[in-house]
Amino acid sequence: MPFVGTFAPPGDKSVSHRLVLMSLLAEGEMLIKGLSDCEDVASSLGAFRALGGKAWLEGEGLKIKGLGGRWPHFESLEIDCRNSGTTMRLLAGILAGAPGHYVLDGDDQLRRRPMERVAKPLRLMGARVDCPGGRPPMAIDGGSLNGVEYSPADASAQVKGAILLAGLSAAGPTSVTEILPTRAHTENLINHFHGLVVVEGSRLTVSPGTLRLPAVFETPGDPSSAAYFLTAAAMLPGGRVTAKNVLLAPARTGFLKVLDRMGASVVTTMTSDSPEPVGDVTVTYAGPLKGTEVAADEIPSLIDEVPILALASALAQGLTVYRKVNELRVKETDRLMSVRHQLGALGARAWIEGDDLFVQGPTAFIIPDQLDSGRDHRLAMTLAIALLAAQAKAPILGAESIAVSYPNFEERLNLLWRD
Ligand code: S3P
Repeated sequence: MPFVGTFAPPGDKSVSHRLVLMSLLAEGEMLIKGLSDCEDVASSLGAFRALGGKAWLEGEGLKIKGLGGRWPHFESLEIDCRNSGTTMRLLAGILAGAPGHYVLDGDDQLRRRPMERVAKPLRLMGARVDCPGGRPPMAIDGGSLNGVEYSPADASAQVKGAILLAGLSAAGPTSVTEILPTRAHTENLINHFHGLVVVEGSRLTVSPGTLRLPAVFETPGDPSSAAYFLTAAAMLPGGRVTAKNVLLAPARTGFLKVLDRMGASVVTTMTSDSPEPVGDVTVTYAGPLKGTEVAADEIPSLIDEVPILALASALAQGLTVYRKVNELRVKETDRLMSVRHQLGALGARAWIEGDDLFVQGPTAFIIPDQLDSGRDHRLAMTLAIALLAAQAKAPILGAESIAVSYPNFEERLNLLWRD
């Protein structure tokens, strides 16, 4: 009973957020084709509209009119980022350079996530940012910014993105030096929108300036959503799944390298390269998977795929180690603990030593009365795949959270599963 078939994943969530939020700073009109329809991106669209932005359905996509950095002066505006950390952090960078008082808040999960990592560099640039205890709500008094040189302590594309976006409104150039490469969508889109980010090794320098939207943008498919079905194909005999039109930027496709090392067949075909590589991916089952070591410097390129890879590791022969996955502790849940607990609930041997996650396979899954995603979308999708792998049924608590990133997940699951 394998996963077999071809599908197109939804538009990439990270790119979709940036298309919408960067339109706040850009001139012109853009038809976005294939924008992600997930709840998180709806939060970014909500923020865009709250600031006076206009977006409407037109033809095959969503037409968006850039605000060019000009929106009404708000004495005080509260923006609800709901569950979306990307919305809050990138928006903080954008609002830091805009006069006005803004309060960014979110739901109970977002209110537990660290914001000081964004607040600190924005303060150094001259914005006033208050977030009690380093958590939301974040109050921002935006205004004139100066350029800075900054090296974030964490490998985070959201922190890098917030600083680069603030740098567009600063008085001079701003540089960010990364400890490890993270997804490069902010810098690539700034350049695609006629701004300037120069990349020299791990150091990126943004020049102040306005952006201009292209007339049309085709959103590539989301590799993080495709990962559930591609990994499922690798795990189960007879599996063969093709994901069409997927973003294949190296900082996003670490999971494909890991699946290849574990013994699956992974074939990619590039179809376009601008502004980032896009193509088709086929993953085929090629015998039982085997354990591997995933190094700390690979983690940013597969950070959102650790739950589904950990499930594959539980079925694989031998030990898999994920080094330095501490960033998982500050996702929608403490995802490191949730992965360990839920794999444990399925009868797998998974444990944490320091910041490393260990999974010892192979496992014959046992199915408990219920599984609990903790309302973490990535865990809920992983558990849905686990149940099919075990050919069992059990309720997954909090499965409604899947809409945060992949509203059509269940429909795809039913289409690709052959029983
Ligand atoms: C994202 C960056 C990552 C990732 C998140 C989306 C982005 O978070 O986990 O799902 O779009 O920039 P961090 O920047 O916190 O690592």
